[in-house]
Amino acid sequence: MKVLDTKFMQGFIKMADDGFRLGWHERNGGNLSYRMTPHEVDSVKERLSDHAPWTPIGAHVPGLGGEYFLVTGSGKFFRNVPVDPEACLCIIELDEAGENYRIRWGLVEGGRPTSELPSHLMNHEVKKAMTNGLHRVIYHAHPTNTIALTFVLPLTDEVFTRELWEMATECPVVFPEGVGVIGWMVPGGEAIGIETSKKMQEYNVAVWAHHGVFCSGSTFDETFGLMHTVEKSAEILCKVLAITPNKLNTIQPDEFRQLAKDFHVELPEKFLYEK
Ligand code: 13P
Ligand code: ZN
Repeated sequence: MKVLDTKFMQGFIKMADDGFRLGWHERNGGNLSYRMTPHEVDSVKERLSDHAPWTPIGAHVPGLGGEYFLVTGSGKFFRNVPVDPEACLCIIELDEAGENYRIRWGLVEGGRPTSELPSHLMNHEVKKAMTNGLHRVIYHAHPTNTIALTFVLPLTDEVFTRELWEMATECPVVFPEGVGVIGWMVPGGEAIGIETSKKMQEYNVAVWAHHGVFCSGSTFDETFGLMHTVEKSAEILCKVLAITPNKLNTIQPDEFRQLAKDFHVELPEKFLYEK
């Protein structure tokens, strides 16, 4: 089967396009990776080349040995993904040790996978183990309002989670485990990947201060929807803060507890502190 005709490729391209249209991917900002199923790998096997050299990942991910990923290329623009996916994307294979990758398809004009490959793969490794293989999508975007909040809110999981939850009733239902926050770090390496994957052991969302957001999920829809919900809530909070630093009305801790009961979600008490 042609790689471009597969459902996973079409879902990937749609997600990249949706993110671009929402303004989260200026220039080459953001990156996306998808862990392919064995069936999907099989379905495109005769279209994969094995001429590219093995290259160090820059991280050790033994839990992903032998897996295949569809990923965005470094320096590639999300706005070009639907127009020229073969130049912007690649399928990579990892070696059994989870230390090297090789390009099996795509990047026809040259290039390499996203510079955030260590973060993506370390997050995939954590999520694959934690969800029994259910999570397959890791998404990094530069959503404006969430980034703006990293300049004015304390950079703690507790404050970010609580403030985002208060801005939209759906939030505690969509991300009941909360969001993790990481202070500013140099992007593109193993160190930020280690910190992000630590947050991913507890959350499906990790905010990088003054930079962007990582989300994890089982499908393109679920992962995109998570990013969208976080960013929508952040947008409301930015508007509220632009009007006044003091909310007159908001959702109270006991109201969150009632919501948790009715919607059958567990909300950690650490986010329901008295103000
Ligand atoms: P890449 O172009 O290497 O994917 O980098 C974009 C980015 O957002 C870095 O954090
Ligand atoms: Zn980025």
